[in-house]
Amino acid sequence: MIAGILRETGNENRVALLPGEVAILKKMGIEVLVETQAGERAFASDKEYQAAGATVTDRSEVIKKSAMVLTVNPPLEDEVRVFADGQILCTVLSPVENHLWLDRMREQGVTVMALDLIPRTTRAQSMDILSSMATVAGYKAVIEAASMLPRFFPMFMSAAGTIKPAKVLILGAGVAGLQAIAVSRKLGASVEVFDVRSAVKEEVKSLGGKFIEVEGAKEDAAAGGYAVEQTDEFRKKQSELIHQRAIAADVVIATAMIPGKRAPLLIMKETVASMKPGSVIIDLAAATGGNCELTRNGETVVVNGVTIVGKSDYPSFMPSDASKMFGNNIINLLKIMVDKEGNLKLDMNDDIVRGTAAVHNKEYVSQRVKQLLEAKQTV
Ligand code: NAI
Repeated sequence: MIAGILRETGNENRVALLPGEVAILKKMGIEVLVETQAGERAFASDKEYQAAGATVTDRSEVIKKSAMVLTVNPPLEDEVRVFADGQILCTVLSPVENHLWLDRMREQGVTVMALDLIPRTTRAQSMDILSSMATVAGYKAVIEAASMLPRFFPMFMSAAGTIKPAKVLILGAGVAGLQAIAVSRKLGASVEVFDVRSAVKEEVKSLGGKFIEVEGAKEDAAAGGYAVEQTDEFRKKQSELIHQRAIAADVVIATAMIPGKRAPLLIMKETVASMKPGSVIIDLAAATGGNCELTRNGETVVVNGVTIVGKSDYPSFMPSDASKMFGNNIINLLKIMVDKEGNLKLDMNDDIVRGTAAVHNKEYVSQRVKQLLEAKQTV
């Protein structure tokens, strides 16, 4: 099989596979074509790709000759017609935002593997691109907050007096939140954490965070490790406690999310108004509406001296390691999609392949995509 790597469009700095991962594909019996300068913004040169055994060529040649095309973000709308019936495209899809594009790919007979739909199961853990990117975002969020905060993170005892450690409040202790706890603690801050899943309590504690318990949270084992929406009574109780903790905090890292829903609103404008001037809120959930009422997706706003950052593209700002993790996840996925000689073997009976295939043979396959698109139509 031939796999093709495209140069990303727009402001994206990552690339689907770095030269190190290309060398692994070659060992798996897969030929690799790479678009000229595909890795440039992730600090990987065409020469390095060639040394790893790839052929570097222009975009149209990569798309025309590859049985499988690998990208971080979906290629441009006007490129849909360039893809052929039977070809495979692996990309982070965002099926709801890109539903028209996806439908055109379906009509054209292209199989679209949505890397953001890889199930969060134990077997698929090594392929879980969303977890990898959330790890990057959790790390970057703390580093950004630390550089914006007009105070130190760690405690300092010096001849000029004692400086108390910064207080960091973390909302949501999933992948990004746990990473944010770990990094904040490493930088010496004291950390308080809210979550609605009791399962994370011990993890929070083992990382050195203080878990603030709110009684009465609704949990559902069937949600597969994800949170579910809460009752009005719980929300009210939680909101009061978050208000108290946020006004004492220097930094808030907000990561709470419920899959397929608007991000839960946890920090209201009244809370921001009572926060200390100079404090920083990094709202990682900005793209799904934000955990803070005042967040603006893709923007940084300052309200009453509180800086609220709504960046949605942190992984793009750490392109080397983000691309490395992305590529490793893809390789692990390809291990179940090719045979020992590197030939394609797309088994729709495999739960990971079926759960990730948004469209195949001109039909919608993944249940999750069908549900998301149905939910969109009823809104
Ligand atoms: P996750 O599902 O692993 O974690 C979310 C956590 O929020 C869960 O532990 C959940 O129980 C908790 N939660 C849900 N409702 C809550 C509530 N009402 N109160 C407290 N906690 C609540 O998700 P992951 O992978 O950590 O991602 C977190 C967010 O970061 C997502 O919105 C994701 O889209 C975003 N993200 C942002 C990036 C950026 O560049 N801004 C990059 C990557 C991810």
